[in-house]
Amino acid sequence: MKSQTIFVCSSCQYQSPRWQGRCPQCSSWNSLEEQRMASQSRKPGPAVKPVNLSGVDILSKPRIKTGIGEFDEVIGGGLVPGSLVLLGGDPGIGKSTLALQLSMQTEGSVLYVSGEESVSQIKLRADRINKNHQLDVLAETDLMAVLGSVENQQPELVIIDSIQTMYSEEASGVAGGVAQVTNAVQQIMRLAKQNHITFILIGHVTKEGYLAGPKTLEHMVDTVLYLEGERFASFRILRCVKNRFGTTNEVGVFEMQGAGLVEVKNPSQLFLGEDSIKASGNVITSVMEGSRALLLEIQALTSSSNFGYPKRTTAGFDNNRLQLLCAILSKRAGMNLSSHDIYVNVIGGIKIDEPGADLAVALAIISSIKDSVIEDTVVIGELGLSGEVRFVPNLEKRIKEAEKLGFKKIVCPKNKLSYKGKIDILQVKTLAEAIKAV
Ligand code: TYD
Ligand code: MG
Repeated sequence: MKSQTIFVCSSCQYQSPRWQGRCPQCSSWNSLEEQRMASQSRKPGPAVKPVNLSGVDILSKPRIKTGIGEFDEVIGGGLVPGSLVLLGGDPGIGKSTLALQLSMQTEGSVLYVSGEESVSQIKLRADRINKNHQLDVLAETDLMAVLGSVENQQPELVIIDSIQTMYSEEASGVAGGVAQVTNAVQQIMRLAKQNHITFILIGHVTKEGYLAGPKTLEHMVDTVLYLEGERFASFRILRCVKNRFGTTNEVGVFEMQGAGLVEVKNPSQLFLGEDSIKASGNVITSVMEGSRALLLEIQALTSSSNFGYPKRTTAGFDNNRLQLLCAILSKRAGMNLSSHDIYVNVIGGIKIDEPGADLAVALAIISSIKDSVIEDTVVIGELGLSGEVRFVPNLEKRIKEAEKLGFKKIVCPKNKLSYKGKIDILQVKTLAEAIKAV
């Protein structure tokens, strides 16, 4: 049979016999890529015998400790031998730095493959992180050569920076394209499972922040990690979005310093900082990052508006959520906000995406308008449309974090609490009660 080619959309896998500029299914531009179609045989293949699970011995190879505690915790206690981990993140966020640190600190043999930097560039970076390192590196983009060396050397851990640079003659398309990336991951997976070699693959992300290449990439690997953070703020958060060997609710916090990424043991301290001053509009709240409570400072600034349409600007907080809070404030607390521009900022460049910070933002706005300072208080709670302060999960954890950092007072919703400690807890039902409490 003559070999045929088809065109496959890299974001939704739509198939078309012809090339088109725009995918008719998901409307993304320029996403159709050429792929060779496998010939289809009509007969079933030879029979293979299934294995009875009860007779299977579990390979009791222990997890590989990477020597970076936060990283180990995020992936569930170390790397599982023979697993595939995909690490994604924006350009310049520190993926290569983290990978290099991992390879220098992991016990056991490690091979660091870079398709993006030359050996001397890697050495430059490695020297910055740690002068006495014994690391084997390979600057190579030919997938077959890489796999050959891995099979020959049998290291315990292989790092590939990045999967988009790997190229093989066997697959069609350009490096980084759907066909190439799919092929590379398939080949790597086969080698990983056969030889129990662990791979960490670094992946590029698209403008929207998703891993570049086919969506199937995420299905193929065992663990998907994202390194996040504002490029110009120094902290980084390592988040796990898929994990076949553990939970996905742990996050790791790092700080980018002169000598690479450093684990942050007490992140609240980093975000609150020593440079905060007592001023109106500043309110401390507590949000959950994974299973960990973080204290953050929210700042609101209001100024009288010159135009008919007042401004609502946010950094680190959802703008629509702010509009909603403004509506609640004017309706339920009788605040006239129509002549005020409102700016809300979360310190440290972190993004809040949980409603538990609602009450804190609302009180920060009131504090700024009335120009009265809210001191030594942590404010927690979600605001409902009728001005009620609603339940938040993990309240006790958040309170303990506040206590650890020496706060005296907490304003929070009426959750059931068995907390007994030094901190003064004011449980409020409505926005009006909360305003009275502070
Ligand atoms: P990098 O790991 O190259 O990012 P990625 O691989 O995700 O594209 O990180 C580059 C950034 O990290 C760069 O802006 C400089 C900074 N950096 C430090 O601040 N300290 C260091 O020790 C290193 C190696 C990098
Ligand atoms: Mg890089």
